[in-house]
Amino acid sequence: MNILLTGGAGYIGSHTAVVLSQAGHEVVLLDNFCNSQKSVLGRLQKILDKVLPCVEADVRDTALVAKTLQDYKIDAVIHFAGLKAVGESVEKPIEYYANNVQGTISLLEAMKSANVKTLVFSSSATVYGNPQYLPIDENHPISATNAYGRSKLHIEEMLKDIAISNSEWKIICLRYFNPVGAHESGLIGEDPNGLPNNLMPCIAHVAVGKFPYLKIYGNDYPTIDGTGVRDYIHVMDLADGHLAALAYVRNHKGWVAVNIGTGHGASVLDIISTYEFVSGQEIIFQIEGRRNGDIASCYAKVDKARNLLGWQAKYNLEKMCSSSWLWQNFSNKA
Ligand code: NAD
Ligand code: UD1
Repeated sequence: MNILLTGGAGYIGSHTAVVLSQAGHEVVLLDNFCNSQKSVLGRLQKILDKVLPCVEADVRDTALVAKTLQDYKIDAVIHFAGLKAVGESVEKPIEYYANNVQGTISLLEAMKSANVKTLVFSSSATVYGNPQYLPIDENHPISATNAYGRSKLHIEEMLKDIAISNSEWKIICLRYFNPVGAHESGLIGEDPNGLPNNLMPCIAHVAVGKFPYLKIYGNDYPTIDGTGVRDYIHVMDLADGHLAALAYVRNHKGWVAVNIGTGHGASVLDIISTYEFVSGQEIIFQIEGRRNGDIASCYAKVDKARNLLGWQAKYNLEKMCSSSWLWQNFSNKA
């Protein structure tokens, strides 16, 4: 298939580009580089030994997106492009709704005009809000506590309406849990502009001495060791999940949401000890108060992904941490 990856130069998009291209799909990237570097294109070329076409554009440029869909005879779109920092979304809700919701509307208009009706959308476990039960299945009530989460909720609902309006649409919303790690080459990984907030990149910063210590946000949660528990998933497993989702959605009309996680929770202390083991570095930490908006535990029920997509995660915490460590060392030198 010919597949357009909006936000394809970003963290998850670039890893998915590798997997799709290696599976024989023709991949086209579209990105405005607001949270990625152009150097990722050369790195993809090194991994794949071929150049992936990349259109520098904002998804809100409907005409250019429509032209791209036509020029490259695109069969399906994976829509990664968007802003994703929870804290920033609370401070800049207009930017978040404009980029995420308006960006998706623009993409849908372009797809409609180019008669491309197959879409994989990057959603998030954030749509489950504060979990009412664990593991979280796809029927868990959805809610949001911040503008980022609400933008994902609005988009999911919008996509549902579109699938109802015209039975030709084939739409799958992938609800990612906590993506971490990097490609085994160490050439691509998570490379956000500014300082990291998520756990794994913060640990990586401590390991290489960029941060003096890790702040652990609370050790008084009702979890196995008091620290927060999450369903961390290797980004290459996540990328494989997109390949499986595409194979499914191209043959299934309508709208569906599927969790993409491992089904297992790991605590902050679990991640620290695994990172120490694979890197040989001590991760100095300090216990701080709970972070605003944090929840105790969150992990996925993954039966739907297994049954519907025939996909399940295969990498363990050690692989997640060792690939992050490899990438951290590479990006430190690059
Ligand atoms: P990322 O920031 O690394 O990648 C997003 C890419 O989209 C970047 O390259 C950025 O430059 C581009 N982009 C942003 N706005 C754009 C626009 N208007 N037009 C064109 N390009 C634009 O983020 P990521 O971690 O790769 O996340 C990809 C998607 O997955 C996002 O939609 C995010 O909300 C979702 N998601 C991510 C996580 C996570 O932890 N990384 C978890 C759940 C869901
Ligand atoms: C955060 C976002 C969520 C998003 C997800 C993946 C918030 C409130 N939620 O979730 O919407 O989908 O990232 O991008 O920001 N921790 C520390 N010290 C740190 C960083 C994190 O102790 O320096 C702890 C957190 O308290 C949490 C765990 O590590 O228990 C994971 O945190 P993080 O990686 O930020 O992910 P989420 O909180 O799950």
